[in-house]
Amino acid sequence: MNSIKKEIILSGMRPTGKLHLGNYFGALRNWVSLQDEYECFFEVADWHALMSDYAEPGKVRENSFDMVCVWLACGIDPKKSVIFRQSDVPEHLELYFILSTLTPIAWLERCPTYKEALANIEGNKIRNFSFLGYPALQAADIALYRADKVPVGVDQLPHLEFTREVVRRFNSYYDTEVMVEPDALLTDVLKLPGTDSRKMSKSYNNTIHITEDKETLEKKVLSMVTDPARIRVSDKGHPEVCSVFAYHNIFSSEATARISDECKAAQRGCVDCKRELIENMESSLGEFRDKYLYYTENPDKVNNILDDGNRRASERAKKNMRLFRDKMKYYG
Ligand code: TRP
Ligand code: SF4
Repeated sequence: MNSIKKEIILSGMRPTGKLHLGNYFGALRNWVSLQDEYECFFEVADWHALMSDYAEPGKVRENSFDMVCVWLACGIDPKKSVIFRQSDVPEHLELYFILSTLTPIAWLERCPTYKEALANIEGNKIRNFSFLGYPALQAADIALYRADKVPVGVDQLPHLEFTREVVRRFNSYYDTEVMVEPDALLTDVLKLPGTDSRKMSKSYNNTIHITEDKETLEKKVLSMVTDPARIRVSDKGHPEVCSVFAYHNIFSSEATARISDECKAAQRGCVDCKRELIENMESSLGEFRDKYLYYTENPDKVNNILDDGNRRASERAKKNMRLFRDKMKYYG
């Protein structure tokens, strides 16, 4: 039979809080569409979350479960993809250690994401030994599955470059090609502003959750910042600077041109415009919320899916670790 082996994808998210629309349109939506073409491993990166959220490990655990419910609700399919929790596959830590022996400290210190994280308001929280090694654990995540491709946003490119460098080092030290140098898979990202028109981010408190309940969704949309030049309904609007319009672009498909024209001609009020958006968001997101509620109400189903994913991920991780150890001629 002429079966061509599928390329392997690994990607992960940190369970640091409820997933929002930025996570959906920036990553999750793409993951869903990659599942047929690739052999996908989707990882709950809970050790990465613990690097910053070590004060509340129980919360990380809760967020992990919740995140899997959202993944499932949005269409990550356990029949097609492996959904697993990093901390259930201890080989991640073993490979992380091996890669850390090959990592010059300077590579970590100069990493732009590290510098940014330190400059952040919560920068003090991550002045620990473990967080410095964040990219090395991410490299281990990817290398452990010998992934060919990693779907990431541009913000994660430094981590991918780091991974490639450390993989090359491993292969050159141990005179092998066993580790796979992964490529970034830059999928299209739909950018959605937060409710205050800045970038959507948990730290700005301007997010809309993927599975937001209807009342909260209404409240959040009604509070959204619109075109600041529109004070009265008779003022002509500029949809291109209005966050509500950015949402219409995604959620209101064929109506967008009409909405834009009416706004520019001062023929629609912002409150009506928001109400129309709420309806359209509700009709696309309502289904995710229903499925999400189903999973949160049936935790056994979710735990079974995770157990099965953990088992499949462990199998692959053990097999690949054996290959790596062999080449190192150190472990038996
Ligand atoms: N660092 C990634 C993020 O913050 C999460 C992550 C952990 C990841 N391990 C990974 C992403 C491996 C891709 C591949 O979004
Ligand atoms: Fe924005 Fe709609 Fe108001 Fe125009 S009418 S400024 S698109 S909210």
